[in-house]
Amino acid sequence: MRLIICDNYQEMSKAAAKLVSSQLTVKPDSVLGLATGSTPVGMYNILAEMCKNGDVDFSEAKSFNLDEYYPISSDNSQSYHYFMQENLFSKINIKPENTHILNGMCKDTDAECKSFEKMISESGGIDLQILGIGQNGHIGFNEPDANLNPNTHLTDLTENTISANSRFFDNIDEVPKQAITMGIGTILKAKKIVLLASGAEKHKVVKQLLEGKITTDIPASMLKVHSDTVLICDRAAYSSERIGVDIGGTDIKFGILNDKNELIHKESIPTIASDEQTLISQIANKCKELMQAYSINGIGVGTPGLIEKGRVTASNLPFKGTFLAKELERLTGISVRVANDANCAALGESTAGAGRNSRNIVMITIGTGIGGGIIINNKLYEGKGSAGEIGHIIVEKGGIQCPCGQRGCWERYSSASALVDMAKKRAEEHKDSVLYSLYKENGKMNGKIFFEAVNRNCPDAKTVLDEYIERLADGINSIANIFEPDMIILSGGITNAGDSLLTPLSKKVNVTVHIAQLKNDAGIIGAAMLQ
Ligand code: PGA
Repeated sequence: MRLIICDNYQEMSKAAAKLVSSQLTVKPDSVLGLATGSTPVGMYNILAEMCKNGDVDFSEAKSFNLDEYYPISSDNSQSYHYFMQENLFSKINIKPENTHILNGMCKDTDAECKSFEKMISESGGIDLQILGIGQNGHIGFNEPDANLNPNTHLTDLTENTISANSRFFDNIDEVPKQAITMGIGTILKAKKIVLLASGAEKHKVVKQLLEGKITTDIPASMLKVHSDTVLICDRAAYSSERIGVDIGGTDIKFGILNDKNELIHKESIPTIASDEQTLISQIANKCKELMQAYSINGIGVGTPGLIEKGRVTASNLPFKGTFLAKELERLTGISVRVANDANCAALGESTAGAGRNSRNIVMITIGTGIGGGIIINNKLYEGKGSAGEIGHIIVEKGGIQCPCGQRGCWERYSSASALVDMAKKRAEEHKDSVLYSLYKENGKMNGKIFFEAVNRNCPDAKTVLDEYIERLADGINSIANIFEPDMIILSGGITNAGDSLLTPLSKKVNVTVHIAQLKNDAGIIGAAMLQ
């Protein structure tokens, strides 16, 4: 089986359309085997456009469709008769009498199947057969079954196929339970076969097909015995390696995640934030370089700031309503998704860090402020774009002024900066304390110095810690009451204090609290997981 990997769905569709048009140039009266489903739609659109422009001619071509639901009438909008009319036949110059689709309302399916086989052989056999592949490995409606039927036949659809195809119907009960389909033998008799696969949901089956043995469990694997089959797939179907990008004010981190969600490569470059275009090109160029070395199916980007309807605005970067994902997609040619960096870090921790065995987590990042990320059922909850601004829950009406404009935000009391401010104040008020002497010795106060005083059993430091923990626990308990997560994960420099923070905190909260494990890698892993 030959393999052609295209950057995206559009490129896959173009490559397939080119094969069809070349076939018709060489043999204008070719017999085409056609497929339905989402995958060939792009190819049909291109062929329709080419036909309109006189670049391909179907006037002498004949076609046989792979399959049809049973029972279904040809005027039902879910029938493959209807599909072919809508997506191709009405847009090209093929003669209606030269198109053949199994009759979903026939009384005698056996007779219908036999006559279809007869018509194919009388037309000289199929020259070029187009196929899609089901997530369960089916081709046509040849479902995984130890007894694959070689000829055109009536078959029961599997649960997997009924569920995959239910997206086209109003509800799953409307999906017919049977279909008539060309058999594996009918398909293998085609002189040339083009198998198309697109999208991440096809990655698993494409991998099984390429790496596995010929087996009736994956009917498409039978195509491996055919001497002229080409698999054309896009990167999303072929590969599950993804690039994760974490944009920071000083550097941009890049990582590559494989299909087991392992970080197989990472590097970083200094951020050039002179203007929007320079920064975007810098990211795109590094991604393109990585795309040469790895088989990448998509890019995920974590950025500071707010994301609204695809527009990124970040105060420390030249993004002012920038369509970041769209711009990067244009430059790299592959799918790009963008999310807030704190949200990406939460997704990273939930995938490969402290939350890897949990479905629902809230990550709280404690730094200058407090940020958060919410993961529900292993998926990032983004709201309208940047959900998780938990640092701005008001915990004290009319309390300390916050730069956000409100008063009494939680981060004014429970961020690392708030802790440092409280420690400084207490030290100044108790000049005989260990806390004060460490403050003076170091010429500054920070989390590390504060926790050193705690560990030296300084009663003043302990009083500050008790007060701080009280506030932190109140906020955590409120969040736990809303989400009831499997765990809360804390991140940020302050978590370096480890048990000095966690032990007293755990006594005051009604939820399991863990410290983040991935440190700097959480952002790139989470960004890659957006794909
Ligand atoms: P799809 O179906 O193109 O809609 O994914 C392919 C198939 O089931 O053969």
